[in-house]
Amino acid sequence: MKTGPASHPKLAVREASKVYRTASGDLVALDRCSIDIQANQIVSIVGPSGCGKTTLLWSMSGLHRLSSGEIRLDGKVITGPHPDIGLVFQEANLLPWRNLDANIAFPFEIKSTRPDRAWIDHLLQRVGLAGFGGKFPRELSGGMQQRASIVRALSLKPSVLLMDEPFGALDSFTREEMNRLVEEIWLDRPTTIVFITHSIEEAIFLSDRVIVMSARPGRVAKEYEVLFARPRSLEIMATKEVFDLQNAIKLDIVGGRTSQKQAPLRSAVAGS
Ligand SMILES: Nc1ncnc2c1ncn2[C@@H]1O[C@H](COP(=O)(O)OP(=O)(O)OP(=O)(O)O)[C@@H](O)[C@H]1O
Ligand SMILES: [Mg+2]
Repeated sequence: MKTGPASHPKLAVREASKVYRTASGDLVALDRCSIDIQANQIVSIVGPSGCGKTTLLWSMSGLHRLSSGEIRLDGKVITGPHPDIGLVFQEANLLPWRNLDANIAFPFEIKSTRPDRAWIDHLLQRVGLAGFGGKFPRELSGGMQQRASIVRALSLKPSVLLMDEPFGALDSFTREEMNRLVEEIWLDRPTTIVFITHSIEEAIFLSDRVIVMSARPGRVAKEYEVLFARPRSLEIMATKEVFDLQNAIKLDIVGGRTSQKQAPLRSAVAGS
């Protein structure tokens, strides 16, 4: 697996700002955001709706250009879509006229490269979709479609996986299953994951670090480390540390709507 030289974080966001030029004037979506993400960390980003989370993630993917600042992958500035970066969105975005196998094959066709069939079969097995390759998206549940989109992203063996509210449309039970699945996949093949969510529970369960953004213009307001060992059991969610952390993050987000000038603070939850 590709990792950056020891001196570089895997992803380095430096003073990233984004101004959208709109008909009603300039809109500052991101204001000098700086975040270092180390290789194979799982980092969640939470914050009020419209604070610039998607803007930041798309900038990390190279699909959006920043107005100023830069984002580096393994020390090199990202200037466009990168083969080492996979993306998963809230909607599975499977092509409805293609079956599951053909959907997974699609990015390889675009790049004129051969898929690693054994790896894809392993992933399908891992997410419980072995034997579903001939099914069309309409024949799959929402959770299955989202699992398929994760397989499609991982089939390219990215070293960074960017996920934008990937389970936001799923019921809470399926969502918990998907959270465990992400952890299992990560344990199987460690990958740097940046995960946007509106669920503080999901962020805490999944992440090594939770970054809280302030209301627009988005800035990094606070950052928390979550030090529970992996694999994590759902029981950690019933502990006092997690309860306190959840409340602290909720207050940050509510506070962030009115106050955008908070001093950065780090806090830690003791390992289980
Ligand atoms: N293409 C665009 N053109 C103009 N404004 C945009 C564009 N994309 C996003 N915005 C604005 O930038 C701000 C940040 O949007 P963004 O989608 O990044 O927020 P978000 O934190 O992902 O929100 P949510 O939690 O609701 O998904 C919002 O005010 C949004 O209206
Ligand atoms: Mg968004």
